[in-house]
Amino acid sequence: MAGLGKTTLVKTLYNHELVQYIFDFRSWTCVSQVYQKKDLLLSILSSFIDDLTYEFYEMSDHQLGEKLYRKLKGCRYLVVLDDIWDCRVWNDLKMYFPDDKTGSRVLFTSRDIDLSLHVQSARPAHVLRLRNEDESWAIFEKKVFRMGICPNGLGKYGRMINEKCKGLPLAIVIAAGLVKNNLSITWWEKISTSLHSFMVSDPRQYIDSLDLSYNHLPPHLRPCFLFLGAFPEDYEVPVTKLIWLWIAQGLVHETGSRMLEDVAEECLMDLIKRSLLMTSRIKSDNQVKTCRIHDLLRDFCLRKAEEENFLSNNYKYEYISV
Ligand SMILES: Nc1ncnc2c1ncn2[C@@H]1O[C@H](COP(=O)(O)OP(=O)(O)OP(=O)(O)O)[C@@H](O)[C@H]1O
Ligand SMILES: [Mg+2]
Repeated sequence: MAGLGKTTLVKTLYNHELVQYIFDFRSWTCVSQVYQKKDLLLSILSSFIDDLTYEFYEMSDHQLGEKLYRKLKGCRYLVVLDDIWDCRVWNDLKMYFPDDKTGSRVLFTSRDIDLSLHVQSARPAHVLRLRNEDESWAIFEKKVFRMGICPNGLGKYGRMINEKCKGLPLAIVIAAGLVKNNLSITWWEKISTSLHSFMVSDPRQYIDSLDLSYNHLPPHLRPCFLFLGAFPEDYEVPVTKLIWLWIAQGLVHETGSRMLEDVAEECLMDLIKRSLLMTSRIKSDNQVKTCRIHDLLRDFCLRKAEEENFLSNNYKYEYISV
């Protein structure tokens, strides 16, 4: 199921210091629905080889696979393939991963529970469940108050909001993003009654709830948000590129004496705070390096963009060379 927290869990493991210590090589690749074998091989190789030369891009799939095999031979590696939709991905690649009994691991995430049966995985799939009430509340409270505790007056409405999220982390963080900027009882009460239940059985039902988040965005943030739909699914968007594209498209405007870059950066942080945009990579100075939009939110952007005729002027895919 979408938004259950698969990527979040695996990312936490992947970045754990013990995991970093144990494995000689680690690689993280987002697969997504449409994939090219060559892109996957290049993506995996780029984690192990700094600055892939032009020569690599000229190689055939098989030559790339052989390079990968030789690189990994005898090493203990961890390769994550995030968001697999089709078992052919693994069947296409498995011959390039040497099995030297060194404790290496290839880890997949997928919305399809049965995929682990088709790829003959060494371990049964770890199936994430929906969060119970207390777990959901813990996610919600942390998202809204960071380390703090929900004040008494808001608790009742917070719990009602949480109940409508049906234990789905994605829904919980979006709802939290909707209420965290306004801690008044009137606002929380309003949201608790107007939020539609996030129907976990049918992601299309999220749309109503996402509409609520969208409609409560300040007007200057809406085009910046819709623009995110122009990036391909699961694409890690470099923040500098996003900021320049927003500016080039005329989606951010100078306010007072502030520079466009600063305004754009504030929009970025605002969308992250509202959980409409997720951080992927952080730089050593704690600034966001890359960010990502969840597939469901991306679908929402595409729909909304069409509805609001945003496509015609600002939404040209050819601008987004990835
Ligand atoms: N334990 C958690 N605590 C706080 N937030 C979480 C937790 N798990 C997931 N989230 C949040 O929920 C959202 C969805 O999570 P994530 O992207 O990991 O889901 P997913 O299962 O990988 O979804 P998909 O199937 O679409 O790839 C993210 O914004 C993430 O930050
Ligand atoms: Mg994911």
